[in-house]
Amino acid sequence: MARVALFFATIMLFVVCLAQAGDGSALIIERCLGCHGMEKSCEVSTSDPDWWKQTVLRMVEYKTGLLSENEAAQVAFFLADKQQRTTLCSSN
Ligand code: HEC
Repeated sequence: MARVALFFATIMLFVVCLAQAGDGSALIIERCLGCHGMEKSCEVSTSDPDWWKQTVLRMVEYKTGLLSENEAAQVAFFLADKQQRTTLCSSN
C-alpha cells in the first residue's frame, strides 16, 4: 500500500515539474523577447537561482507588469536549471 502511494506521489511530482517547466518556457517566449533576443539568457552560464531571481526582477523593473511575482519566480526557477535552459536555447 505504501509502495503504491509512493508511486503515485512520484508521478504527481513529475507531472507538477513538467507543468512548471512548460509554464516557464512559455512565459519566457511570450514576455522576454520584447527588448532583446533569447541570446541574453542563453549566453549566461550561471545556474545560481538567486542570480536569476535578481535578474528576472530587474527585467520586471524595466517593464512594470511584465510578470507577476509568481510568474517571475517560475521564469527564474526555469532559467536557473541548466538542462531546461539548454533545451530552450537549442530550440531557438
Ligand atoms: C523592457 C525591456 C526588457 C524586457 C521585457 C526583458 N529584458 Fe532582459 N534586459 C533588458 C536590458 C536593457 C538588459 C541589459 C541591462 C541589464 O543587464 O540590466 C537586459 C539584460 C538581460 C540579461 C543579461 C543580464 C546580465 O547581467 O548578463 C538577461 C539574462 C535577461 N535580460 C533576461 C531577460 C528575461 C528572462 C526576460 C523575461 C522575464 C527579460 N530579460 C525581459 C531589457 C529587457
